[in-house]
Amino acid sequence: MSHKLLGIDVGGSFIKAGVVDVEAGSLVGELISAPTPQPSAPEAMMPTIAGLAARLPATAGAVGLAFPAVVKSGRARTAANIDHAWIGADGAALIRRTLDRDALFLNDADAAGLAEMRLGAGRGVKGSVVMLTFGTGIGSALFIDGRLFPNTELGHMELNGMDSEKYASAHVKAMLNLDWRAWMDRVNVYLDRMQALFWPDLFILGGAISERFADFAPLLHCEAEVRPAHFGNQAGVLGAALAAAEAYAGTG
Ligand code: BGC
Repeated sequence: MSHKLLGIDVGGSFIKAGVVDVEAGSLVGELISAPTPQPSAPEAMMPTIAGLAARLPATAGAVGLAFPAVVKSGRARTAANIDHAWIGADGAALIRRTLDRDALFLNDADAAGLAEMRLGAGRGVKGSVVMLTFGTGIGSALFIDGRLFPNTELGHMELNGMDSEKYASAHVKAMLNLDWRAWMDRVNVYLDRMQALFWPDLFILGGAISERFADFAPLLHCEAEVRPAHFGNQAGVLGAALAAAEAYAGTG
């Protein structure tokens, strides 16, 4: 019997949602999205999430909620690109109230990385992998032999006197209207620093912009192997549902 769970990926600009067949590791139907309410406070976000869930086929079982912050013991602990009212908020409890079912609350890059390592660009890869997501910010997920070291925040590593995500995210590319070369000059500096600090066997580059990998790959300079994310901007939704399936295995 196939097992279908709802995955939700909250971003600074959009909230995405989809139904995931967790055995097949793929979306059932389309990925839908709605603009993130502004201000993006916890309560303000719940009607948008309920609206997205209502537009999708009904699913039973837990929900996975990927979120752009450090999540420790079920609570958001940071809020770089989201309303500060989230700090300390229990995302799983909010979802339980809104959608009337259990939820697993986790960092968005960790969720995307889990999807890539289980089923995508990192499938079967042993050794050390650094997954980086380029979007409103830069998210990171570190893996060793497929096991996650959660809540790394390498988008906040200092680069040229600022948070690296303020220097090299996809949002910065759009805001400063950087062409591929100008943006890759910045990404290369960032990857260089990651390389010097972590020496991974593989980098996986994710976020919606990874769908344009063919355009910027010739400009990449990196000692380690670099692969584009297989699931592009679906990875967060997929990974959130996969993580919820693992966390609630046998309960629904
Ligand atoms: C947040 C991370 C998040 C990343 C990508 C950063 O600003 O601090 O927790 O993973 O953005 O959304």
